[in-house]
Amino acid sequence: MIKKPILYDFNNVLCERINSPSCISVEEIESYGQKTSEIHNILFEKRKNRELLFYELPYSREELKKIKATGDAVKKHMGNRFENLLVIGIGGSSLGGIALIRALAHPFYNLLPDKERKTPRIFFAENIDPDEIKGLFDILDPEKTVINIISKSGSTAEPMANFLLFQKFMVEKIGEENFKKQLIATTDAKKGTMRNIANDLGIQTLSIPDGVGGRFSVLSSVGLFPAYLLGIDIDSLLEGAAFMDKLCKNEDPFKNPAYMNAVIHYHLHTRRGINMAVMMPYSSQLAEISVWYRQLLSESLGKKYSLKGEVVYAGQTPIKAVGAIDQHSQIQLYREGPFDKIITIMSVDTFKNFLNIPSLYESYEGTAYLGGHTLNELFNAEKQATILALVKSGRPNIEISLPEINPYTVGQVFFLYEVQTVFAGYLYNINSLDQPGVEAGKNYAYGMLGRKGYEKIKEEVDNFLKKDEKFMIGL
Ligand code: PA5
Repeated sequence: MIKKPILYDFNNVLCERINSPSCISVEEIESYGQKTSEIHNILFEKRKNRELLFYELPYSREELKKIKATGDAVKKHMGNRFENLLVIGIGGSSLGGIALIRALAHPFYNLLPDKERKTPRIFFAENIDPDEIKGLFDILDPEKTVINIISKSGSTAEPMANFLLFQKFMVEKIGEENFKKQLIATTDAKKGTMRNIANDLGIQTLSIPDGVGGRFSVLSSVGLFPAYLLGIDIDSLLEGAAFMDKLCKNEDPFKNPAYMNAVIHYHLHTRRGINMAVMMPYSSQLAEISVWYRQLLSESLGKKYSLKGEVVYAGQTPIKAVGAIDQHSQIQLYREGPFDKIITIMSVDTFKNFLNIPSLYESYEGTAYLGGHTLNELFNAEKQATILALVKSGRPNIEISLPEINPYTVGQVFFLYEVQTVFAGYLYNINSLDQPGVEAGKNYAYGMLGRKGYEKIKEEVDNFLKKDEKFMIGL
């Protein structure tokens, strides 16, 4: 495993380099000096007072020990009938784990033959789509399945409904005692419905530290436990995150990629109208990192009110793209559409495999030039070409290069974006750790399903659902 730093390159946002009104100058970056050090001090203080506990996750040795011990116990209990791991969770309780596993496991992990795979297949029950959940019932054998229910609050409707369904499904086939041995709950250390249920059942549990919100929890038991069961090197993942933490302790944004990225995104958004942030990894395995990033940015920075209570409507819209696929889908818009996007290209220096493209059909120009090159060369050329094309059309872009995709480099990526996000929260002067906009939707759903205490909300929903049929067209 190459344990090297990832490279953060911001040349292509600078006015010196892109000839466009969407640029930022070095002087403009430097003008954030005082603000940067103020925020740096706030973060330092908050960290010291244990108010930003995601910062401590790379160093949580006790929890790491517990994750491994719980994982080893469940592996021992299941022996060679451990065929499936089902993770139930949503949002911050699923997206980090999915991104982590997609990045670090074999691209077709679940489909590998048992002999090569050696660790259980993994499935995520995120949505409450009845057909999808029934689909999982069809393929999972309760005898051979371990369930990890993840819910910080323990009261989110989607994972709790899925949990109830899977409990019934499992208990009917293997009985309550066996089910309890095949269930691990990851939840708040002390409070919440899931914690209470876990206590009632007397099952094994892992904790999400109190001050760590869902979208900042990938490096806690939320992401680490499933990763450990799949044989991923979680020690190196945390080591990579700790390495990034060291860089992010620099007050100077020119030495701190998280602060620099926050300043660039914030400035281009608020001064240049760049209200969208595209994440475009040139790697299929990093594609789910864009989805994780999408949630991190949306829920953290998309806020109506400032810390002073003024209406600000903050936040850039994050967009998921994947190279090279989206060259044939979104790049047309990025190059010729409105000047409203900054694009992050994530790239990989060395892939695990080199594939030589065979020299066939050499009489055809359309294939002749490919033979003799590697697929790696083609991928890299397409990435470089896209960057050049973006620069040519004056579109600001950042490149983040991973020496290779491994736990150490992926750990750096997660940590960088988490620090960038809380730092950006202070630039916007909003609370990056809450999500009041999500709560409203949750409450309406509780009201509709008749949850106790939500009667008034139910009335509001009932009134809302009365519509004028004149404005509905039935086909
Ligand atoms: O980031 C967040 O806080 C949210 O996305 C939550 O993770 C999500 O709503 C699920 O919450 P919980 O883990 O409490 O079930």
